Amino acid sequence: MPPLDLGVLISGRGSNLQAILDAIADGRLDARVRLVLSNRPGVEGLARAERAGVPTRVIAHRDFTDRDTFDAAVVDALRDAGATWVVLAGFMRLLTTTFLDAFPHRVVNIHPSLLPSFPGVDAQQQALDHGVRITGCTVHLVDAGTDTGPILAQAAVPVLDGDDHDTLAARILVQEHALLVRALSWIAEGRLQVTPPAAPGGRARASIAGVGTALGLAAVDAALGLAEGGRARGNVGEVGEGA
Ligand code: GRF
Repeated sequence: MPPLDLGVLISGRGSNLQAILDAIADGRLDARVRLVLSNRPGVEGLARAERAGVPTRVIAHRDFTDRDTFDAAVVDALRDAGATWVVLAGFMRLLTTTFLDAFPHRVVNIHPSLLPSFPGVDAQQQALDHGVRITGCTVHLVDAGTDTGPILAQAAVPVLDGDDHDTLAARILVQEHALLVRALSWIAEGRLQVTPPAAPGGRARASIAGVGTALGLAAVDAALGLAEGGRARGNVGEVGEGA
């Protein structure tokens, strides 16, 4: 298969973009980043792209009167650059059908929770506020809803006593980087299958050929420092044996 031609949309730091660039550079991901596009000027992610020799564009959403014309300009830029798949890597704008229809089932997002829990902004704080013991991250295809599209892959991350937003976000981010690269490499290998909704208004589903469900528990085990093959149960120390 030819390499994936990626357009990566960012709004800020760009650490997930960096994970993609690093994975391409060391041969873990068969892809080319055709364009990194930010809706905000001067962000760290643009500097990361420039350092990697990748073309960049800034299209500021504030210069547009409505979402459709902004999205149409972004679509044109991505097409001109030769991108056929789009990754939302910390892109803080909702996309319209103008955009989604241009790249059907080819827009991938990374979200810092186990969807469908905690969609939208600040998923890490939502998880802390709710008091969940396990959260994580999700790679999914984007549809017209907010973080509602078909799920490709998830990794679980424990919430530990004493966590605040920053400690939890940092623990999740490690898994985001690994999961996003892994999901994109599965796509590059041609293993993604999308099943359309069974009935109008139903939900499309995505699956990855040959991939089981072990990924999430492995991440929890690693973060809790459990021996390989041990079982993660959230806050093991407090709950006690057999809980
Ligand atoms: C990540 O937590 C991502 O899941 C969310 O926004 C954050 C972006 O971080 N959508 P970065 O810009 O990739 O460092």
